[in-house]
Amino acid sequence: MTSSVEHVNSLRLVQSSDLEEFVQQILVANGTSTEHAGIVANCLVQADLRGVDTHGSNRIPSYMERIRRKALDATAAPELRQVTPAVAQVDGRNGFGFVAAHAGMARAIEMAQQFGIGMVSIKHSNHFGMSAWLVKQALDADMMSLVFTNSSPALPVWGGKEKLMGVSPIACGAPSENPRRPFILDMAPSVAARGKVYKALRRGEKIPTDWALDGEGNQTDDPAKALEGVMLPMGGPKGSALAIMMDVFSGVFSGAAFAGHVTNPYDPSKPADVGHFLVAVKPDLFMTMDEFKSRMQYLYQRVVDSEKAAGVEQIYFPGEIEMITEERRLSEGIPLAEAEIEALNKEADRVNVARLKVQSRVDS
Ligand SMILES: NC(=O)c1ccc[n+]([C@@H]2O[C@H](COP(=O)([O-])OP(=O)(O)OC[C@H]3O[C@@H](n4cnc5c(N)ncnc54)[C@H](O)[C@@H]3O)[C@@H](O)[C@H]2O)c1
Repeated sequence: MTSSVEHVNSLRLVQSSDLEEFVQQILVANGTSTEHAGIVANCLVQADLRGVDTHGSNRIPSYMERIRRKALDATAAPELRQVTPAVAQVDGRNGFGFVAAHAGMARAIEMAQQFGIGMVSIKHSNHFGMSAWLVKQALDADMMSLVFTNSSPALPVWGGKEKLMGVSPIACGAPSENPRRPFILDMAPSVAARGKVYKALRRGEKIPTDWALDGEGNQTDDPAKALEGVMLPMGGPKGSALAIMMDVFSGVFSGAAFAGHVTNPYDPSKPADVGHFLVAVKPDLFMTMDEFKSRMQYLYQRVVDSEKAAGVEQIYFPGEIEMITEERRLSEGIPLAEAEIEALNKEADRVNVARLKVQSRVDS
């Protein structure tokens, strides 16, 4: 998932701690409180660490432009309302989606600890990047979770040709005996996340022709043309239905925008009004925690030891490839393209923050 990109000469290595501090400082200089900036920076760098480069620190320039154009309120604090003992609602008040969702998951976990399950609906929020950081927030509290969000139109519904549904990721997780190998599913309902097209555009790369259609409905390997057209759903009508499901739970249910009315995170002209839906579930409701985790470990082993198809060297559990990448990047550093570092440094220069500490060039 990351290796082909990591062997390009124009990549530089940065330490995750340096990157996180740098991102936090830019956020603070743009009006975000130190606490909230810490949450956003940590979520973005978690994505960089896991190899989800599409949803990491390189999003900072677009987020800062939204703040400058007053499409996103960097100072907003989410408002929490208890609806039933096990259900809460968060109004993100057009602040960072990371901050609203972090507060929502924290509350969902507290309710699950008390009642076995906690459900939180979030409205008036913004893009929260990689869903897996929320699954990890739940895992850190030994919780299973469901993490849904809606997003801006990018995908046609099955049979349609206009962008209508978001490439809205569906994510969930469960802890296991080995804390380094939990179950973490985090997937967009398209053949590829649209962030991968933006990343290819930034890095001057081509994309596989089965990811998207151009504005005329033709297959394309050009990321710029793909962004004029539509992303293709995975599994035909089934991917389209999953995107609609994300809109039902995150948009219709919450009171946020839905049915194609969420604003693109790269469009700084108006608030996004994204909706999210979070559930935390206590794993030891029907057995002890040790028993649950040992059954998860058994499932993991059965999956990865399964007889391999021709040409397959290793079978991975959902989330495992990203965990392996995280372990490597924590020690070796995070590879960022020089163009991405330059874009981040431009943001730093604007607000008098020291430029990013870069370690070394990644050789091919
Ligand atoms: N916030 C938003 O609006 C938004 C929108 C779209 C995507 N995203 C994020 O973009 C990211 C990328 O999404 P994606 O759909 O391109 O992910 P992906 O296709 O890279 O991975 C999807 C899932 O498949 C698993 N997987 C991948 N290769 C595997 C293999 N060989 N064996 C076993 N499992 C494997 C991964 O662990 C992951 O759980 C996600 O983090 C998602 O949350 C966010």
